[in-house]
Amino acid sequence: MSEKPVVVVTRRLPDAVEDRLRRDYDPRLNPDDRLFAAETLLALCEGADAILPCHTEKLSAKVIAALPDTVRVIANFSVGVDHVDLAAARDRGIVVTNTPDVLSDATAEIAMMCMLGAARRASEGEHLVRSAEWRDWSPAFMVGIQVTGKRLGIVGMGRVGQVVARRARGFDMVVHYHNRHRLDRELEAGAIFHADLDDMLPRCDVLSLNCPATPETAGLLNAERIARLPDGAIVINTARGALVDDDALIAALRTGRLFAAGLDVYNNEPDIDPRYRELTNAFLLPHIGSATRETRDAMGFRALDNLDAFFAGREPRDRVA
Ligand code: 8YV
Repeated sequence: MSEKPVVVVTRRLPDAVEDRLRRDYDPRLNPDDRLFAAETLLALCEGADAILPCHTEKLSAKVIAALPDTVRVIANFSVGVDHVDLAAARDRGIVVTNTPDVLSDATAEIAMMCMLGAARRASEGEHLVRSAEWRDWSPAFMVGIQVTGKRLGIVGMGRVGQVVARRARGFDMVVHYHNRHRLDRELEAGAIFHADLDDMLPRCDVLSLNCPATPETAGLLNAERIARLPDGAIVINTARGALVDDDALIAALRTGRLFAAGLDVYNNEPDIDPRYRELTNAFLLPHIGSATRETRDAMGFRALDNLDAFFAGREPRDRVA
């Protein structure tokens, strides 16, 4: 028997992260980067001490109940943990960790890209150039909305939300935010707090969703809330698709009640609601918020730091259950 803890790694990770895994653990890697069905994952976990999953593996109560007793820790390669039933893990005494901080900059970059892509009609523009359908230029051609100086409302002023606020200040945007708790003044940096989300919405030229997906935030952006936004507002989502009622958002984009949306995350990824694909005023990215070389390395190392702490008998820094 190996002395090193056995770690089931569900997806292909950056080389440097897999090297460290091989050095310090007995890893069960996934070199083909296949998406494991629950039964395959459970079979791979036989005799394993730990799992290092991504948000692509749904660790439901049923899956967690079926894990072998040897599995004592789930060290996620993600900050979001909505794919893991934390209560079920707690019931079985399984420790769960995530990877906060290290992906805030990369995700905020994608939030700014979604904002600019939506406001300046980037999907339409790119399509015109690539399809050779671009024929002319005129003052009325491809006119979008300038974000400079506009009001940005951030829902969820956590790590990512705070970086989005800083980047938006570089565009002279006036930042409003709704959060469970008001930040202290230094962190707030002039952003305007709204204890009630519904009070903030009429003040948002751009609305950015940056809160976690929980039972409380499911479907948070629904038809009533969209109706409170100003005419021609822009919605961006780099957090989780579950925050959005797709019927309501698609209806508002179709009628032009909203000017545009910039989305990196969706319900039921990657089989998203096909109606989004038909919308020229939707700027759509395939969940790439954290997809930079720097960040993916840092996420892997952070997950390994959590495993190292656990197996050294210390409290992992990023324990969420
Ligand atoms: C990750 C994310 O790439 O960390 C998260 O919560 O949404 C992404 O940016 C993904 O979850 C990796 O598992």
